[in-house]
Amino acid sequence: MVRTRQVHLVARPEGRPHPGHFRIVEADLPPLGDGQVLVENLYMSVDPYMRRSMDAEAKDLEPWPIGGPLNGPSIGRVLASRHAGFVSGDIVESMSGWQTHFISNGEPFVPYLSSDTAIARRRVGGGVEPRDYLGLLGIASQTGYFALTCAATMRAGQTVVISSGAGTVGSVACQIAKLNGMRVVTSAGSADKIRWLLDEIGVDAALDYKSPGFAAELRTACPNGVDLLLENASPEHFSVCLPLMNPNALMLIAGFISIYTGDGKARIENFEYVLDRFLTIKCFAFMEYLDAFDRFVADMTAWRQEGRIHFREQIYDGLERAPEALCALFDGTVTGKPLVRIAG
Ligand SMILES: NC(=O)c1ccc[n+]([C@@H]2O[C@H](COP(=O)([O-])OP(=O)(O)OC[C@H]3O[C@@H](n4cnc5c(N)ncnc54)[C@H](OP(=O)(O)O)[C@@H]3O)[C@@H](O)[C@H]2O)c1
Repeated sequence: MVRTRQVHLVARPEGRPHPGHFRIVEADLPPLGDGQVLVENLYMSVDPYMRRSMDAEAKDLEPWPIGGPLNGPSIGRVLASRHAGFVSGDIVESMSGWQTHFISNGEPFVPYLSSDTAIARRRVGGGVEPRDYLGLLGIASQTGYFALTCAATMRAGQTVVISSGAGTVGSVACQIAKLNGMRVVTSAGSADKIRWLLDEIGVDAALDYKSPGFAAELRTACPNGVDLLLENASPEHFSVCLPLMNPNALMLIAGFISIYTGDGKARIENFEYVLDRFLTIKCFAFMEYLDAFDRFVADMTAWRQEGRIHFREQIYDGLERAPEALCALFDGTVTGKPLVRIAG
């Protein structure tokens, strides 16, 4: 008999989540049936969209239940298999995070579209570790990569503004824009993050978006206007950028983390600039560009090996720290990609 530990939701938050909204429960897994696979999770990812899964109505997401298993990206190892397609030791990706062990029927995994227990075998070695599938090669990194290489056209010398620059989407996008010769202007919420963005990520300007003079500082940092925006943070940031956009510029929205917790206004100001400057606003999801996944993996692994891209992870040890890791996304205490080490 295998015992699993799971994180359950005990209450739905108003505003920011805190670890008290979660608890750990233990359960026995049933014996493995024909066609089934027993997986031990090694790492799980926490991501901003999960705050919306905590709401009773999450619009495009299935709300997390109170008192039941949660879902989220994870990478694990097959411990036992009675499925012809998997053997012990296989490394598999799934949406069965937030628990130590689970049983899969071996259904094929497609991010966000397959069942929570669907799995896909992932190749490791040659410099690729299992946790890379949640980090360097995970969905947030894909979002930063696809934003700039698929949804937008990068032109050397043009200016891109990227919010939440010290997050995963932001830091990956900043570096890809630099690799393509763009002027990169970004923002973050602490002096440490700003230093990291300037010294390690190599942006041209990194500003504190909490500064009262932020709008003026952003204008000064973009003397030739803004040709491309990648918005990760807030309607407030998006609104401040509108008057700086050059004619026909593109404003990409990956997300507005501020409104997931109700921290900020959900309103856009300065909207008249969209008409005056013939701007294009595009919301996108990483799933739209999965046909470029192989190119993404090849580029990101090569750039890391060549030292052309820096990828920072913040590892939280133990399943019991998963709630803390998720909550850290909303109080700004995480830099780079937060991952939870469950085993291994
Ligand atoms: N479209 C897609 O397919 C897709 C996929 C993945 C992610 N996303 C979105 O992309 C964005 C970035 O995701 P990520 O995983 O890289 O997370 P992230 O940027 O690391 O998000 C966490 C950071 O957001 C900042 N933040 C938190 N609350 C904020 C607020 N009220 N106002 C402004 N900034 C705030 C904090 O940084 P500071 O300390 O700098 O404030 C925090 O450390 C999110 O909006 C996410 O939902 C979209």
